[in-house]
Amino acid sequence: MKISNNKHISFDKFVDIALYHKKTGYYMKKNPFGKDGDFITAPNISILFSEMLAIWCIAFWEHLGFPKRINIIELGAGNGEMMYQMIKVFERFNKFRESSNYFILEKSQFLKKIQKKKLNFHKITWLNSINKLKNGPNIFLANEFFDSLPVKQFIKKNNKWYEKSIKKNNINKFEFVNVITNIKNLEKKIKINLSKNQKIIEFSPLTYDYLNIISEKINTFQGGLLIVDYGYSKKKMRDSLQSIYKHNFNNVLDNFSKSDITYNLNFFLLKKIVKKLNLKVAGLTSQRNFLTKLGILDRAEILAKNLQFSKKADIYYRIKRLIDKNFMGELFKVMFVTGKNIKFKLGF
Ligand SMILES: C[S@@+](CC[C@H](N)C(=O)[O-])C[C@H]1O[C@@H](n2cnc3c(N)ncnc32)[C@H](O)[C@@H]1O
Repeated sequence: MKISNNKHISFDKFVDIALYHKKTGYYMKKNPFGKDGDFITAPNISILFSEMLAIWCIAFWEHLGFPKRINIIELGAGNGEMMYQMIKVFERFNKFRESSNYFILEKSQFLKKIQKKKLNFHKITWLNSINKLKNGPNIFLANEFFDSLPVKQFIKKNNKWYEKSIKKNNINKFEFVNVITNIKNLEKKIKINLSKNQKIIEFSPLTYDYLNIISEKINTFQGGLLIVDYGYSKKKMRDSLQSIYKHNFNNVLDNFSKSDITYNLNFFLLKKIVKKLNLKVAGLTSQRNFLTKLGILDRAEILAKNLQFSKKADIYYRIKRLIDKNFMGELFKVMFVTGKNIKFKLGF
């Protein structure tokens, strides 16, 4: 990485290079999902997760009055598993299938290749930019997308704000340095008071940019954004940076470009941003509530009928990982963002 010794770069820039450098970035050269990777995501735990999201999309489309054209856009599609399973559900609903178009926004060329191979049975358009969507309504789906975007971290010490930055020291190791900053400049730019009653701020400029474009699309063509991600809803922000390497926590600055670096979304802040962008948060709940309300347990019962015990047990074990509060059930939240006039509430 081109960080000269004793010069510093901001933390989000560091993450951007670590994860998304064209040649050496973590997501640009490997498949991080599953046993041989570093972590596993919900669609790769159980197909029922994607099925529930597909049913939710169809119900939302119905609520919108069965529009003749509807765009389903997955943000950051990983190994393509979620889109694969969703399309299999959509195929069973003739009217929806005829009306729907599928899109993926994916930054990693490496993962894009995997997605194209897996999804070659269906027409899908890979977007380079959300701006390319020229009509709607649009349903944006973001499972573990926003937590993978570079984030800035600021800390307050003796009444002054510092931005957490990174430098390489004399023995070529990365270390954190605090660089004094004027937080008001950022606050003015986004027209949000981030610092009131906070000691730490985690803010992702890229998330803000994406929410901006998405809100434009939803305000112009209708639709919504469904975010499924880990995070918390309290107003007070905390240091939530984390790094995962081979299914274990790892020091954020170690195993550069070999480990994933993420953080917990602050849904309170996301709500604030979304409101500023003229949309509303129509629902925010735990993954457990969302999937249960959509009927994941009923669906499991149907699937498990007539199966031998070990297969039945496997279905329920996987669901447990998705909805149990000791696994993903509570830490993962689902947030539904849509136009102010929309009354759709399914799952919340
Ligand atoms: C943690 S993975 C989640 C993958 C998938 N949604 C799942 O649940 O299995 C994050 C995904 O977002 C993609 N990604 C990250 N930043 C992106 C960006 N700025 N634009 C598009 N895709 C991005 C990554 O390459 C990866 O596919």
